[in-house]
Amino acid sequence: MSKISIQPVGYALGAKVTGIDLTEPISDDDFNAIYESWLQHIVLVFPGQKIGPNELANFTQRFGELDTYDSQPFNRHPDYKEVMVLSNRRSNGVLPQTHNAGQNWHTDLSYTARPAKGTSVYCLEKPSVGGDTMFANMYSAYETLSPKMQELLDNMEAIHDVSMIEGLGKREPEVVAEFKRLNPPVIHPAVRAHPESGRKALYINERVRQFVGMTEAESKPIIKFLCEHSTSPRYIYRHYWSVGDLVMWDNRCSTHLAVGDYDPSQIRHMIRTSGKGDYYGRLAEPTAIIAEKTSLTESKNIAAGLAALAD
Ligand SMILES: [Fe+2]
Repeated sequence: MSKISIQPVGYALGAKVTGIDLTEPISDDDFNAIYESWLQHIVLVFPGQKIGPNELANFTQRFGELDTYDSQPFNRHPDYKEVMVLSNRRSNGVLPQTHNAGQNWHTDLSYTARPAKGTSVYCLEKPSVGGDTMFANMYSAYETLSPKMQELLDNMEAIHDVSMIEGLGKREPEVVAEFKRLNPPVIHPAVRAHPESGRKALYINERVRQFVGMTEAESKPIIKFLCEHSTSPRYIYRHYWSVGDLVMWDNRCSTHLAVGDYDPSQIRHMIRTSGKGDYYGRLAEPTAIIAEKTSLTESKNIAAGLAALAD
């Protein structure tokens, strides 16, 4: 009989899963219960786990095929292309590109034509205080807009651009240039129907530059309003990390933010996988390349040359 317990940890979104050891086999019945609760609660927290990159990849691939991070090969784990390292630990004196990742509201890989379905992050080390992550429910964000605004957004598309990522100026210029080359601006619908729940979710965040058919000046006030509306405290779950937490979220109906509220001299070290989502996007400039078509060999050479990661 299953010992798994799933309890909400936030009103807007978020639930905690206990009574499970992710190093042990998980039955199909238990997995199905977890998957259903993931769809329902959007964010699941598995506290007290003891896993490495291999176990992380094995468990999370049950949620769907994993992304191999062709969009950012320099951030991969050296032994697992499906695992990204989020860390501020220097390697050969170099600060990893992910040391300040995720510090504006976003949904993962929306700057690619195939954004992430879900993302899973496992905490190996954390600062003594802070380093939190906040999540916002984008179903709620859409459903609480006026009918007129919903109607307007239902027919709009938005340009997502890696240049909008917070803190790019603090990273290695050569890597940033390569990151931009691999990820030219892409267009996504402003509202997406979730492929499993069927519910509409707002798909606008702080990495949106402008709406298609509008100028940047016209777009910015609307984007600003939607970002503020969608991240209102009432739609938020804030996660206070502990070492051993695995947190999994559904990127199709949420946004999140790495708060950056910690002493940067202390280590924050996490590993992550992302599931491949559906192809929603298209290139804003059709002649541009996309990361998925870039050769892996070329990407690996870039990663090795930059030596941004060591562990
Ligand atoms: Fe993220």
